[in-house]
Amino acid sequence: MSELNLILLGPPGAGKGTQAERIKADFSLLHISTGDMLRAQVAEGTQLGKRAKEYMDRGELVPDGVIIDMITERIASPDAGDGFLLDGFPRTEAQADALGAALAEAGTALSAVVLMEVSDDEVVRRLAGRRVCVKNSAHIYHVEFDPPKREGVCDQDGARLIQRDDDQEDTVRRRLEVYHEQTAPLIDYYEERDLLLRFDGVAPVDQLHVRIRATLASVSMQQRM
Ligand code: AP5
Repeated sequence: MSELNLILLGPPGAGKGTQAERIKADFSLLHISTGDMLRAQVAEGTQLGKRAKEYMDRGELVPDGVIIDMITERIASPDAGDGFLLDGFPRTEAQADALGAALAEAGTALSAVVLMEVSDDEVVRRLAGRRVCVKNSAHIYHVEFDPPKREGVCDQDGARLIQRDDDQEDTVRRRLEVYHEQTAPLIDYYEERDLLLRFDGVAPVDQLHVRIRATLASVSMQQRM
């Protein structure tokens, strides 16, 4: 296996989407964000989108069955064959087990799990100031820490910037509870499998990116040897 197959793990607002935009370009990886996939379904008004929105608006996880089907199908597609970057998946042990089984069946495996650690208070501060592009929610800004060149306008495609529905403080607090209960146990899960790479998510965006890129470059090199 020479391709990089990665997971970005961390609480809501840790900077997974922000770093994903950079890392996918560094290593030519397919970026698979379950949050973006679900928001696209919501925007299209599909049955899945309508069902998912009820959970997302409450800050709860969408049921495992729906998510596992969506992702196993996506990673089996040919464009995932040169390496992928999972952002927002897995979020439960059942999802992690299903991912492991799907990769084993495809004759491949995970290369590493990148954990970004950030405190709850920092998450609340970040999500209060987050703005995303109305056309592409992978274009992410912060009014203070990572502002666009023109206020309220996406640098990349000139579209309007909006706040996500689930970035209201009450919903963010619930998302954090759900993270600690259901997703944080995956830290031990991947540490036991010797895949976990820890990063201080509080470092400035560009500094953190340089550190992650350097570490992943050596993972990639070791894989080739
Ligand atoms: P999802 O969209 O995946 O949300 P999340 O995991 O809660 O993560 P976020 O997108 O909120 O944050 P992020 O870590 O990407 O941070 P970002 O880079 O934007 O999921 C949404 C919902 O979908 C879930 O609640 C759930 O309902 C459902 N769902 C999704 N996946 C699921 C699954 N697998 N199973 C079940 N349900 C699922 O950065 C945040 C802000 O901070 C930005 O403003 C950014 O500019 C700023 N920032 C980033 N890095 C830094 C830095 N280093 N310093 C200062 N500011 C920074």
